Amino acid sequence: MSALPKEASNKYLRGTYEPVLDESHAADLEVIGEIPKDLAGHFLRIGPNPYFVPDEDKYHIFDGDGMVHSVEFSAGKASYRNKFVDSAGLREEREKGHWIFPGLNMYGELIAKGEMPKSKNTGNTAMVFHQGKLFGLMEGGTPYELSLPSLETVGEHDFDGTLTHNFTAHPKVDAQTGEMMTFGYSPFPPYLTYSVVSPEGKAVHTKEITLPKGIMMHDCAITANYTIFPDLPLVFDFEKLTQGESMIGWDPSNGSRIGIVPRFGDDETIRWFDIEESFLFHVANAFEQGDEVVMQACRSDHGAIETSENRDVREQLGRLHEWRFNMKTGAVSSKRMIDDQYCDFPRILDDLTGYPNRYIYAARFRVNEMATFDAEMKYDNQTGELLIHAFGDNKESGEAVFAPKVGAVDEDDGYVICFVNDADDRSCECHIIDAKNFEAPALAKIKIPVRVPHGFHAAWVPA
Ligand SMILES: [Fe+2]
Repeated sequence: MSALPKEASNKYLRGTYEPVLDESHAADLEVIGEIPKDLAGHFLRIGPNPYFVPDEDKYHIFDGDGMVHSVEFSAGKASYRNKFVDSAGLREEREKGHWIFPGLNMYGELIAKGEMPKSKNTGNTAMVFHQGKLFGLMEGGTPYELSLPSLETVGEHDFDGTLTHNFTAHPKVDAQTGEMMTFGYSPFPPYLTYSVVSPEGKAVHTKEITLPKGIMMHDCAITANYTIFPDLPLVFDFEKLTQGESMIGWDPSNGSRIGIVPRFGDDETIRWFDIEESFLFHVANAFEQGDEVVMQACRSDHGAIETSENRDVREQLGRLHEWRFNMKTGAVSSKRMIDDQYCDFPRILDDLTGYPNRYIYAARFRVNEMATFDAEMKYDNQTGELLIHAFGDNKESGEAVFAPKVGAVDEDDGYVICFVNDADDRSCECHIIDAKNFEAPALAKIKIPVRVPHGFHAAWVPA
């Protein structure tokens, strides 16, 4: 049984965040509008959904068990399914009937008492599809292989024993070579370990990269020839932890720099570029242009894993930003792409990861104390045009995916798909937006028969 009360005091356990405990399946869902007949595949969204909550007040949104929600499209029809990521930790807790693994905000008191907290690999953060396999990911652990369409957890996957480190939630797949670039970070040395996973599914190149301190590194980027690591000052600090503060804090004295390493390079060949004090959770894309490596991301002035009451919330919200790193001269240029729109969860046509892309899609923040998303954005790198698809005052969206049409000619021949929650009655719809007619009403709004709490990242897996 879950320990969750009916009306949770923690903002991440109530309202449109309240976890669901049932796993359901429903076919032939009700639709307003029409599902395009050529749309075939799975829209997937993963997120934290705690089965047991050790301490409601101390619950951190990163703590929850992983749950995947899927909407499968086929021949103009849609079906829905959701399932927990059946992690070893969750299984153990369900067998015992109570929580075992403490949440992040409980670590301080445990360490102060001389106990080392046991962490759970929840697989709650993001998914990647590589060489026919779907993985549920959390940066503190090993990937979980998940099956489609059942969403059953096959088990932890260590790439035939070749994976030797934690695996980021945001590896990058080069669709042209089939390679997957990944990394693991740690509060203890080695702080950063980089791997290339071959198209055959083995980590074939694993190198430790030197960082001055242990940091939280949430994302990376690739280009055709390089892998890019942001070393930004969201630093592990165990002294603060034992004093009851967050174990991950903002320390600008650490500097902000971007490391660019040849795909099969190492600590000797990585080049570091200093940038202004910055934080980014998510990269949109990176690519090479002449001598330059271009990276576009949602940049904020400040980084934290909790919004701070002492700061203007906007300091922690991302805005689309471009850096250009000249690999010949070492020069860096930096510019904000859009001033007045805060956004995150940037996505592109997946197959262009590492190669020049024209369009970026991102979820726009409704800027208030507890930031939610109220619109999806489409940005055009060629014209600088920004289009907004807004959902309305009481609606909340999240990460959208871009699902290309089969036989697409233009980069934006396809559909932008996301969940949209009604904050008043907590009902949920899955919206399909025509990417070429982005500001028009959704082509289809699919009624999800159960509640779908907010989550983290989404994925598109074509049929
Ligand atoms: Fe993320």
